[in-house]
Amino acid sequence: MTQVHQYEVVIVGAGGAGLMAALYASMGAKTAVLSKLYPTRSHTGAAQGGVGAALGSEEEDRPEWHTFDTVKGSDYLGDQDAVEYMCSQAVPIVYELEHMGLPFNRTPEGRIAQRPFGGHTNNETGRPVRRACYAADRTGHMILQTLYQQCIKNQVTFFDEFQVLDLIVENGVAAGVVAAEMATGELHVFHAKAVVIATGGWGRVFEITSNALSYTGDGVAISMRRGVPAEDMEFFQFHPTGIYKLGILITEGVRGEGGVLINDKGERFMERYAPTAKDLASRDVVSRAMYLEMQEGRGIGGQRYLYLDVRPETVNKYAKVDGRTRPDGSPYVVTAEEILSKLPDIIDFCRTYIGIDPVKEPMPVQPTAHYAMGGIPTTVHTEVVIDEKNTVMPGLYAAGEVACVSVHGANRLGTNSLLDIIVFGKEAGLRAAEYAQGADFTPLPAEPEAAVREHLDVLRHGDGTERVSDLRREMQVVMFDKVGVFRTEEGMQQAVDKVRELRERFHHVRVDDRGRIFNTDLLEAWELGCLLDVAHVTAVAALARKESRGAHSRDDHPKRDDKNWLKHSLAYLKPEGVELRYKPVTITKFQPKERVY
Ligand code: FUM
Repeated sequence: MTQVHQYEVVIVGAGGAGLMAALYASMGAKTAVLSKLYPTRSHTGAAQGGVGAALGSEEEDRPEWHTFDTVKGSDYLGDQDAVEYMCSQAVPIVYELEHMGLPFNRTPEGRIAQRPFGGHTNNETGRPVRRACYAADRTGHMILQTLYQQCIKNQVTFFDEFQVLDLIVENGVAAGVVAAEMATGELHVFHAKAVVIATGGWGRVFEITSNALSYTGDGVAISMRRGVPAEDMEFFQFHPTGIYKLGILITEGVRGEGGVLINDKGERFMERYAPTAKDLASRDVVSRAMYLEMQEGRGIGGQRYLYLDVRPETVNKYAKVDGRTRPDGSPYVVTAEEILSKLPDIIDFCRTYIGIDPVKEPMPVQPTAHYAMGGIPTTVHTEVVIDEKNTVMPGLYAAGEVACVSVHGANRLGTNSLLDIIVFGKEAGLRAAEYAQGADFTPLPAEPEAAVREHLDVLRHGDGTERVSDLRREMQVVMFDKVGVFRTEEGMQQAVDKVRELRERFHHVRVDDRGRIFNTDLLEAWELGCLLDVAHVTAVAALARKESRGAHSRDDHPKRDDKNWLKHSLAYLKPEGVELRYKPVTITKFQPKERVY
């Protein structure tokens, strides 16, 4: 028998956005959090370098500069009302985290320490500004631990290792979710007045990624299957520095601390591509520069990687070239001890996974699929919208990477993801609780879990010959090669065709484990279905966008085209294919300009 639970607010996902939403929702409504992982294993824990806020701890900075940098970084596709809101909330919300006990690094005077990051600038000089508030290179991990402790203190109810498989929508209103309890294989229905989706991203669509195995796009897939479109899916960020072949993130904080990218000729090539910001240009710019270097044969030993060099002698050499100083005006000179204390995790990762000690040797890096700028469309208040007129689906909210508010537009600035999850996680919690206080429970349809049960039974008992791992691998390879840093019409068409073929073959997939208890074989097959849906809309939306903007760079349309393409895409997943619609970008203060770094 399916168990039915009733909570006023149900939050799906226990990363930073889900936990922040839970903390605030639970103050005003009976709240439950459902997570397919134990909460502190959520992917927020992998975020390293910092959370952006113009605190001005170390030098002059202003929320208005943060706003402009974010809009410029987004290649003018970010909705400026949302960006203004996020950047105005950044300073108070970082202090709020500090007061919850988050162990930020400190300046000698005891303020929250800050480091430079890509695209963060003093808007008057154009030079990098220290805006990233950090806890060594474990900032996301610390946010996750701090918020989880706060949730426990506030007695939030958690359903850990409950994987949400469907969204219940009745008469156009969100009414709950269906989840599988992983330990037993039983299905549970969670009847809710408000549902907050905070399931994170889908980097596992790509072959080389910094994303955890769990990042399979569940939230966006289940909402698309219930008629909600996905916004700006063609924009997927490639972080410049993933460990070669493994994709594991090497934080931009390395470059913030003075590390530089070097090609096979020993050149600091970013000087040529971004003469002012250099290694700290925005991620789309740096990733493209790296690809060009490799394409022109200047990858290390002619291979598909470059060096990221944070050895003290290199850092000190280029700090001198750049005229970099400490906040007190003294020359910027680092020691191996300082590098070790500020970047302990990445040093550990390199020593463990590739046997390289970054204070003695440069790290081999390549761009790695990192972050989904698109996702479930929402208002600034995290309400999910279902069309180009911004019609709200009552009772449904989304926050964090799964959502598209849109604050990141075509390219996100580093540190704005952690800011996004705390600002919009809080907003989602407050709004969902407020909505729940004034709403009744929408009656559930008969057997709301029936469709999920049938789908799982088909997967569990299928006698086809297709293997999940084969289909997943083929999808990842084609998406990385053809819908990656550089795109061509032909390549994207190949990706669309391949993903269509894989979605067809998915009907013949075979699952070996036919049991119920911790059947991860079955759930991985279900997740592959989500990945394929997400890959499908991504490739179709990318093929349709005939311009280059932010992370979407194509050879046949190499320029941004504001006349025709300054608009958000909305992709609807229909049985006959993907339907694309478009809606305008909100511009408030900043008219689109050419981006120069
Ligand atoms: O480079 C990093 O530490 C990643 C941060 C981010 O994606 O915001």
